[in-house]
Amino acid sequence: MKDRFTTKIDTSITSAVEYLTQDEVVAIPTETVYGLAANALSEKAVLKIFEAKNRPHFNPLIVHIKDWKEAEKYSSFIHPYIQQLALAFCPGPLTFLVPKKDCIPDLVTAGSPYVALRVPNHNLSLSLLQAVSFPLAAPSANPFGYVSPVSAAHVRQGLDGKIPYILDGGDCTIGLESTIIGVEEDALVVYRVGGISIEAIETCIGTKVVLKTHQDQAPHTAGQLKSHYATHTPLIMGNPLDLYTDYANKKIGIIAFHNTYAELAVAKIWTLSPSKDLSEAATHLFRTLREADTYDLDIIIAEHFPDQDLGRAINDRLHRAQALFK
Ligand code: TXA
Ligand code: MG
Repeated sequence: MKDRFTTKIDTSITSAVEYLTQDEVVAIPTETVYGLAANALSEKAVLKIFEAKNRPHFNPLIVHIKDWKEAEKYSSFIHPYIQQLALAFCPGPLTFLVPKKDCIPDLVTAGSPYVALRVPNHNLSLSLLQAVSFPLAAPSANPFGYVSPVSAAHVRQGLDGKIPYILDGGDCTIGLESTIIGVEEDALVVYRVGGISIEAIETCIGTKVVLKTHQDQAPHTAGQLKSHYATHTPLIMGNPLDLYTDYANKKIGIIAFHNTYAELAVAKIWTLSPSKDLSEAATHLFRTLREADTYDLDIIIAEHFPDQDLGRAINDRLHRAQALFK
Protein backbone atom coordinates (compact mmCIF):
# COMPACT_ATOMS: atom_id res chain seq x y z
CA MET A 1 0.00 0.00 0.00
CA LYS A 2 1.22 3.51 -0.82
CA ASP A 3 2.01 5.73 2.17
CA ARG A 4 -0.92 8.01 2.98
CA PHE A 5 0.45 10.00 5.90
CA THR A 6 3.39 11.70 7.50
CA THR A 7 3.20 9.87 10.80
CA LYS A 8 3.40 12.18 13.83
CA ILE A 9 4.44 11.06 17.33
CA ASP A 10 3.19 13.28 20.17
CA THR A 11 1.48 13.27 23.56
CA SER A 12 -1.54 15.43 22.67
CA ILE A 13 -4.86 13.80 23.49
CA THR A 14 -6.69 16.59 21.65
CA SER A 15 -4.98 15.63 18.37
CA ALA A 16 -5.78 11.96 18.97
CA VAL A 17 -9.44 12.81 19.56
CA GLU A 18 -9.54 14.85 16.34
CA TYR A 19 -8.23 12.01 14.21
CA LEU A 20 -10.45 9.42 15.85
CA THR A 21 -13.63 11.48 15.44
CA GLN A 22 -12.76 11.81 11.74
CA ASP A 23 -12.71 7.99 11.45
CA GLU A 24 -8.93 7.83 11.24
CA VAL A 25 -6.74 5.36 13.16
CA VAL A 26 -4.38 6.35 15.97
CA ALA A 27 -1.79 4.22 17.75
CA ILE A 28 -2.34 4.34 21.51
CA PRO A 29 -0.25 3.25 24.49
CA THR A 30 -1.53 0.64 26.91
CA GLU A 31 0.16 -1.17 29.78
CA THR A 32 0.45 -4.34 27.63
CA VAL A 33 1.46 -3.30 24.11
CA TYR A 34 0.60 -0.37 21.82
CA GLY A 35 -2.78 -0.67 20.12
CA LEU A 36 -3.95 0.60 16.73
CA ALA A 37 -7.23 2.27 17.65
CA ALA A 38 -10.32 3.40 15.76
CA ASN A 39 -13.97 4.11 16.56
CA ALA A 40 -15.33 0.61 17.25
CA LEU A 41 -18.85 1.66 16.22
CA SER A 42 -17.78 2.88 12.76
CA GLU A 43 -17.17 0.23 10.10
CA LYS A 44 -15.41 2.79 7.96
CA ALA A 45 -12.90 3.50 10.74
CA VAL A 46 -12.44 -0.16 11.66
CA LEU A 47 -11.71 -1.09 8.04
CA LYS A 48 -8.72 1.26 8.18
CA ILE A 49 -7.23 -0.76 11.04
CA PHE A 50 -7.27 -3.93 8.94
CA GLU A 51 -5.83 -2.03 6.01
CA ALA A 52 -2.96 -0.39 7.93
CA LYS A 53 -1.99 -3.66 9.64
CA ASN A 54 -2.55 -5.82 6.59
CA ARG A 55 -4.63 -8.00 8.88
CA PRO A 56 -7.08 -10.63 7.60
CA HIS A 57 -10.73 -9.70 8.25
CA PHE A 58 -11.42 -13.04 9.92
CA ASN A 59 -9.29 -11.99 12.90
CA PRO A 60 -11.53 -10.05 15.33
CA LEU A 61 -10.57 -6.97 17.37
CA ILE A 62 -10.60 -6.18 21.09
CA VAL A 63 -12.90 -3.28 22.04
CA HIS A 64 -11.42 -0.93 24.65
CA ILE A 65 -13.77 0.80 27.08
CA LYS A 66 -13.14 3.54 29.67
CA ASP A 67 -14.41 1.55 32.64
CA TRP A 68 -16.14 -1.74 33.32
CA LYS A 69 -19.53 -0.03 33.86
CA GLU A 70 -19.56 0.52 30.08
CA ALA A 71 -19.59 -3.24 29.46
CA GLU A 72 -23.37 -3.48 29.68
CA LYS A 73 -23.70 -1.04 26.77
CA TYR A 74 -21.98 -3.52 24.48
CA SER A 75 -22.77 -6.90 26.01
CA SER A 76 -26.13 -8.58 26.56
CA PHE A 77 -24.96 -10.88 29.36
CA ILE A 78 -22.22 -10.68 31.98
CA HIS A 79 -21.60 -14.00 33.74
CA PRO A 80 -20.90 -13.80 37.51
CA TYR A 81 -17.30 -15.06 36.98
CA ILE A 82 -16.71 -12.29 34.46
CA GLN A 83 -18.15 -9.68 36.80
CA GLN A 84 -16.00 -10.91 39.68
CA LEU A 85 -12.82 -10.86 37.59
CA ALA A 86 -13.66 -7.46 36.12
CA LEU A 87 -14.05 -5.98 39.58
CA ALA A 88 -10.69 -7.44 40.59
CA PHE A 89 -8.63 -6.64 37.47
CA CYS A 90 -10.12 -3.65 35.61
CA PRO A 91 -8.40 -1.55 34.52
CA GLY A 92 -5.73 -4.10 33.64
CA PRO A 93 -4.37 -6.70 31.21
CA LEU A 94 -7.46 -8.91 31.12
CA THR A 95 -9.87 -9.15 28.15
CA PHE A 96 -13.40 -10.54 28.51
CA LEU A 97 -15.17 -12.41 25.71
CA VAL A 98 -18.89 -11.76 26.24
CA PRO A 99 -22.10 -11.97 24.11
CA LYS A 100 -22.28 -8.82 22.00
CA LYS A 101 -25.07 -6.34 21.47
CA ASP A 102 -26.07 -5.25 17.95
CA CYS A 103 -24.31 -1.88 18.21
CA ILE A 104 -20.94 -3.65 17.79
CA PRO A 105 -20.38 -4.12 14.03
CA ASP A 106 -19.84 -7.69 12.80
CA LEU A 107 -16.60 -6.50 11.24
CA VAL A 108 -15.17 -5.96 14.74
CA THR A 109 -15.98 -9.50 15.90
CA ALA A 110 -15.42 -11.19 12.51
CA GLY A 111 -19.04 -12.29 12.53
CA SER A 112 -18.91 -13.83 16.00
CA PRO A 113 -21.78 -13.20 18.44
CA TYR A 114 -19.11 -12.53 21.10
CA VAL A 115 -17.17 -9.31 21.62
CA ALA A 116 -13.84 -8.98 23.45
CA LEU A 117 -13.90 -6.09 25.97
CA ARG A 118 -10.98 -4.62 27.88
CA VAL A 119 -10.27 -1.59 30.11
CA PRO A 120 -6.61 -0.67 29.51
CA ASN A 121 -4.56 0.51 32.48
CA HIS A 122 -2.76 3.52 31.04
CA ASN A 123 -3.44 7.14 32.00
CA LEU A 124 -3.21 8.59 28.49
CA SER A 125 -5.48 6.00 26.92
CA LEU A 126 -7.99 6.22 29.75
CA SER A 127 -8.09 10.03 29.30
CA LEU A 128 -8.53 9.50 25.58
CA LEU A 129 -11.39 7.04 26.15
CA GLN A 130 -13.04 9.61 28.46
CA ALA A 131 -12.71 12.28 25.78
CA VAL A 132 -14.40 10.39 22.93
CA SER A 133 -18.02 9.27 22.79
CA PHE A 134 -17.30 5.77 21.45
CA PRO A 135 -15.24 2.71 22.46
CA LEU A 136 -11.98 1.97 20.64
CA ALA A 137 -11.35 -1.17 18.65
CA ALA A 138 -7.62 -1.86 18.79
CA PRO A 139 -5.40 -4.77 17.85
CA SER A 140 -1.69 -4.58 18.62
CA ALA A 141 -0.10 -1.81 16.53
CA ASN A 142 2.22 -3.99 14.44
CA PRO A 143 2.03 -5.20 10.85
CA PHE A 144 0.18 -8.54 10.90
CA GLY A 145 2.37 -11.39 12.11
CA TYR A 146 5.26 -9.39 13.55
CA VAL A 147 6.27 -8.85 17.19
CA SER A 148 3.93 -6.47 19.09
CA PRO A 149 5.27 -2.93 19.77
CA VAL A 150 6.08 -1.83 23.31
CA SER A 151 7.14 1.75 22.49
CA ALA A 152 6.06 4.54 20.15
CA ALA A 153 9.29 4.04 18.17
CA HIS A 154 8.37 0.37 17.57
CA VAL A 155 4.99 1.45 16.19
CA ARG A 156 6.69 3.88 13.82
CA GLN A 157 9.10 1.17 12.62
CA GLY A 158 6.17 -0.97 11.47
CA LEU A 159 3.52 1.53 10.42
CA ASP A 160 5.32 4.70 9.33
CA GLY A 161 3.31 6.45 6.60
CA LYS A 162 0.33 4.14 7.09
CA ILE A 163 -1.21 5.98 10.07
CA PRO A 164 -1.43 9.70 10.88
CA TYR A 165 -0.70 9.73 14.60
CA ILE A 166 1.00 7.84 17.43
CA LEU A 167 0.04 8.89 20.95
CA ASP A 168 3.29 8.51 22.87
CA GLY A 169 2.78 7.11 26.35
CA GLY A 170 6.32 5.82 26.90
CA ASP A 171 7.31 2.18 27.27
CA CYS A 172 4.66 -0.42 28.07
CA THR A 173 5.04 -1.66 31.63
CA ILE A 174 3.65 -5.21 31.23
CA GLY A 175 5.10 -5.84 27.77
CA LEU A 176 2.85 -8.81 26.86
CA GLU A 177 -0.70 -8.74 25.49
CA SER A 178 -3.71 -9.17 27.78
CA THR A 179 -5.01 -12.54 28.94
CA ILE A 180 -8.27 -13.37 27.11
CA ILE A 181 -11.02 -15.21 28.99
CA GLY A 182 -14.65 -16.19 28.53
CA VAL A 183 -17.25 -18.57 29.95
CA GLU A 184 -18.41 -21.81 28.34
CA GLU A 185 -20.97 -24.01 30.09
CA ASP A 186 -20.31 -22.26 33.39
CA ALA A 187 -16.57 -22.90 33.22
CA LEU A 188 -14.05 -20.09 33.01
CA VAL A 189 -12.03 -20.55 29.81
CA VAL A 190 -8.67 -18.94 29.00
CA TYR A 191 -8.15 -18.37 25.25
CA ARG A 192 -4.87 -16.50 25.42
CA VAL A 193 -2.37 -16.41 28.27
CA GLY A 194 -1.04 -12.92 28.90
CA GLY A 195 -0.55 -10.14 31.43
CA ILE A 196 -2.78 -11.62 34.17
CA SER A 197 -1.61 -15.07 35.25
CA ILE A 198 -3.81 -18.14 35.40
CA GLU A 199 -2.88 -18.47 39.06
CA ALA A 200 -4.27 -14.97 39.78
CA ILE A 201 -7.51 -15.79 37.93
CA GLU A 202 -7.97 -19.10 39.77
CA THR A 203 -7.33 -17.44 43.13
CA CYS A 204 -9.92 -14.77 42.32
CA ILE A 205 -12.76 -17.12 41.32
CA GLY A 206 -11.76 -19.98 43.64
CA THR A 207 -11.85 -22.66 40.95
CA LYS A 208 -9.71 -24.09 38.13
CA VAL A 209 -9.88 -22.61 34.63
CA VAL A 210 -10.06 -24.51 31.33
CA LEU A 211 -7.19 -23.75 28.94
CA LYS A 212 -8.13 -23.38 25.25
CA THR A 213 -5.14 -21.51 23.98
CA HIS A 214 -4.94 -23.24 20.58
CA GLN A 215 -7.33 -22.28 17.83
CA ASP A 216 -8.48 -25.84 17.10
CA GLN A 217 -9.84 -26.09 20.63
CA ALA A 218 -11.65 -22.78 20.79
CA PRO A 219 -15.06 -22.88 19.11
CA HIS A 220 -15.96 -19.23 19.40
CA THR A 221 -12.61 -17.58 19.12
CA ALA A 222 -11.47 -16.96 15.61
CA GLY A 223 -8.15 -16.16 16.74
CA GLN A 224 -5.00 -17.52 18.17
CA LEU A 225 -3.00 -17.90 15.00
CA LYS A 226 -0.06 -20.20 15.50
CA SER A 227 2.56 -18.33 13.56
CA HIS A 228 2.47 -14.98 15.26
CA TYR A 229 4.81 -12.67 17.13
CA ALA A 230 7.54 -13.85 14.77
CA THR A 231 10.98 -12.39 14.29
CA HIS A 232 12.45 -12.35 10.76
CA THR A 233 15.43 -14.29 12.12
CA PRO A 234 14.66 -18.01 12.69
CA LEU A 235 13.98 -18.72 16.34
CA ILE A 236 14.22 -22.07 18.09
CA MET A 237 13.33 -22.94 21.68
CA GLY A 238 15.37 -25.27 23.84
CA ASN A 239 18.36 -25.63 26.10
CA PRO A 240 21.11 -23.30 24.81
CA LEU A 241 23.83 -25.65 26.07
CA ASP A 242 22.50 -28.45 23.80
CA LEU A 243 21.40 -26.38 20.82
CA TYR A 244 24.61 -24.37 20.74
CA THR A 245 26.55 -27.39 19.39
CA ASP A 246 23.88 -28.04 16.70
CA TYR A 247 24.54 -24.59 15.23
CA ALA A 248 28.33 -24.64 15.58
CA ASN A 249 29.20 -22.48 12.57
CA LYS A 250 26.29 -20.10 12.85
CA LYS A 251 25.94 -16.61 14.23
CA ILE A 252 23.88 -17.33 17.36
CA GLY A 253 21.93 -15.11 19.73
CA ILE A 254 20.55 -16.49 22.99
CA ILE A 255 17.52 -15.26 24.91
CA ALA A 256 17.83 -16.52 28.48
CA PHE A 257 15.77 -16.15 31.64
CA HIS A 258 18.38 -15.51 34.38
CA ASN A 259 21.53 -17.32 33.17
CA THR A 260 24.26 -15.33 31.47
CA TYR A 261 25.79 -18.35 29.63
CA ALA A 262 29.14 -16.57 29.85
CA GLU A 263 30.90 -19.83 28.89
CA LEU A 264 29.33 -19.85 25.41
CA ALA A 265 31.10 -18.08 22.56
CA VAL A 266 28.06 -16.69 20.77
CA ALA A 267 27.36 -13.37 19.07
CA LYS A 268 24.95 -12.05 21.69
CA ILE A 269 23.21 -13.12 24.89
CA TRP A 270 20.17 -11.40 26.36
CA THR A 271 19.42 -12.24 29.98
CA LEU A 272 15.86 -11.07 30.59
CA SER A 273 15.92 -11.07 34.40
CA PRO A 274 19.10 -11.83 36.36
CA SER A 275 16.96 -11.78 39.53
CA LYS A 276 14.61 -14.52 38.15
CA ASP A 277 11.58 -12.25 38.07
CA LEU A 278 9.11 -13.48 35.40
CA SER A 279 7.28 -10.12 35.24
CA GLU A 280 10.55 -8.34 34.54
CA ALA A 281 11.41 -10.94 31.89
CA ALA A 282 7.99 -10.39 30.27
CA THR A 283 8.53 -6.64 30.15
CA HIS A 284 11.78 -7.14 28.23
CA LEU A 285 10.66 -9.93 25.88
CA PHE A 286 9.28 -8.10 22.83
CA ARG A 287 11.91 -5.38 22.95
CA THR A 288 14.56 -8.09 22.97
CA LEU A 289 12.98 -10.01 20.08
CA ARG A 290 13.01 -6.82 18.02
CA GLU A 291 16.59 -6.03 19.00
CA ALA A 292 17.65 -9.59 18.16
CA ASP A 293 16.26 -9.04 14.67
CA THR A 294 18.69 -6.15 14.13
CA TYR A 295 21.79 -8.25 14.93
CA ASP A 296 21.98 -10.09 11.62
CA LEU A 297 21.98 -13.44 13.44
CA ASP A 298 21.54 -16.83 11.73
CA ILE A 299 19.52 -18.20 14.62
CA ILE A 300 17.96 -17.07 17.90
CA ILE A 301 17.95 -19.72 20.61
CA ALA A 302 15.35 -19.01 23.30
CA GLU A 303 15.19 -20.85 26.58
CA HIS A 304 12.02 -22.45 27.92
CA PHE A 305 10.81 -20.33 30.83
CA PRO A 306 9.23 -21.84 33.95
CA ASP A 307 5.61 -22.77 33.15
CA GLN A 308 4.09 -20.60 35.87
CA ASP A 309 2.80 -17.04 36.26
CA LEU A 310 3.92 -14.85 33.33
CA GLY A 311 6.35 -17.60 32.28
CA ARG A 312 3.43 -19.34 30.54
CA ALA A 313 2.68 -16.28 28.43
CA ILE A 314 6.38 -15.87 27.60
CA ASN A 315 6.59 -19.52 26.47
CA ASP A 316 3.39 -19.10 24.45
CA ARG A 317 4.82 -16.12 22.52
CA LEU A 318 8.15 -17.87 21.93
CA HIS A 319 6.39 -21.04 20.72
CA ARG A 320 4.37 -19.01 18.24
CA ALA A 321 7.48 -17.20 17.02
CA GLN A 322 9.15 -20.58 16.52
CA ALA A 323 6.18 -22.11 14.69
CA LEU A 324 6.96 -20.22 11.50
CA PHE A 325 10.25 -21.99 11.07
CA LYS A 326 9.13 -25.53 11.81
O1 TXA B 1 -3.15 -6.42 25.34
C1 TXA B 1 -3.88 -6.53 24.36
O2 TXA B 1 -4.82 -7.34 24.32
C2 TXA B 1 -3.59 -5.64 23.16
C3 TXA B 1 -3.85 -4.20 23.55
C4 TXA B 1 -3.69 -3.24 22.41
O3 TXA B 1 -5.11 -4.10 24.13
N1 TXA B 1 -4.36 -6.02 22.02
C5 TXA B 1 -4.12 -7.15 21.30
O4 TXA B 1 -4.93 -7.28 20.19
O5 TXA B 1 -3.28 -7.96 21.60
P1 TXA B 1 -4.67 -8.36 19.05
O6 TXA B 1 -5.68 -8.06 18.01
O7 TXA B 1 -3.26 -8.37 18.64
O8 TXA B 1 -5.07 -9.70 19.73
C6 TXA B 1 -6.41 -9.88 20.12
C7 TXA B 1 -6.81 -11.31 20.10
C8 TXA B 1 -6.80 -11.92 18.71
O9 TXA B 1 -6.15 -13.16 18.75
C9 TXA B 1 -8.26 -12.06 18.39
O10 TXA B 1 -8.50 -13.16 17.58
C10 TXA B 1 -8.90 -12.20 19.76
O11 TXA B 1 -8.15 -11.36 20.58
N2 TXA B 1 -10.27 -11.69 19.73
C11 TXA B 1 -10.66 -10.41 19.65
N3 TXA B 1 -12.01 -10.33 19.55
C12 TXA B 1 -12.47 -11.60 19.58
C13 TXA B 1 -13.76 -12.18 19.48
N4 TXA B 1 -14.85 -11.45 19.34
N5 TXA B 1 -13.82 -13.53 19.52
C14 TXA B 1 -12.72 -14.27 19.65
N6 TXA B 1 -11.46 -13.79 19.72
C15 TXA B 1 -11.34 -12.46 19.69
MG1 MG C 1 -1.48 -8.88 17.91
